Amino acid sequence: MPLGKIIFWFEELPSTMDMAHDLAMKGYPEGTLIIANRQTMGRGRYNRVWISRDGGLWLSSILRPRDNVFINLLPLIFAVSVHETLSIYVSDCWIKWPNDVLVDDKKIAGILSESRFTGSKLSYIVVGIGINLNNAIDDSLEDRAISLSTLLGRKINIPSIFRSLLENMNRFYGIYQLTPSLIIHEFYKRTRMIKKTVKVIMDGKIIQGIGLGINLNGDLILKNQDQIRIIHSYDAPFKVLVEDS
Ligand code: BTN
Repeated sequence: MPLGKIIFWFEELPSTMDMAHDLAMKGYPEGTLIIANRQTMGRGRYNRVWISRDGGLWLSSILRPRDNVFINLLPLIFAVSVHETLSIYVSDCWIKWPNDVLVDDKKIAGILSESRFTGSKLSYIVVGIGINLNNAIDDSLEDRAISLSTLLGRKINIPSIFRSLLENMNRFYGIYQLTPSLIIHEFYKRTRMIKKTVKVIMDGKIIQGIGLGINLNGDLILKNQDQIRIIHSYDAPFKVLVEDS
């Protein structure tokens, strides 16, 4: 079933993630989308607050992959889809592993993936996407986040961005279903991390290396002299810095 075959569009929700989990548990199919004009308790990775005022695009999709083999690549499909959608408007947009879409060094969109298992069997996954479009950016985030309307100096037509995003989500999800590894290549075309010095700051320690790529588990591979370091996207909270080298 295509993504967006069933769409629920709400004025306000605590979080589209919670509504998507409720609907998934009631048996709603893959591709059911939940959108809210604003969220009162939007969340990001590691349960960080995700400020979601009117004017942004805040949505979650229910996914029911047949197995859990490549599920860590799923967030990349959506990051690639967001990138494809926004790069028509802004040229210096790129994806920072694992889930950020940036314009230069400011975040314009983020992706959140939450899986639910029954025992060891995958039940479903909810992937959430938040894109800053016409929403005001909180003062506290001004040096780290940006909206498309600020970049373009005009109001953005949200339904038209949504239509194009949906088309891209279906296109890249289709590609992933046929050949999961192709999504990694789509990521390579849209990132600035490959052959660059990447620093991952985790637990107060810095892991540094040259970005070699992503494996089929969605992990980042860094090379430091002769040592290969694998960073899992689901590890403890970390910060990723990319240097212009
Ligand atoms: C991140 O960068 O940490 C991920 C942010 C994900 C935000 C989106 S907005 C729609 C969906 N509902 C939420 O509460 N979060 C995700």
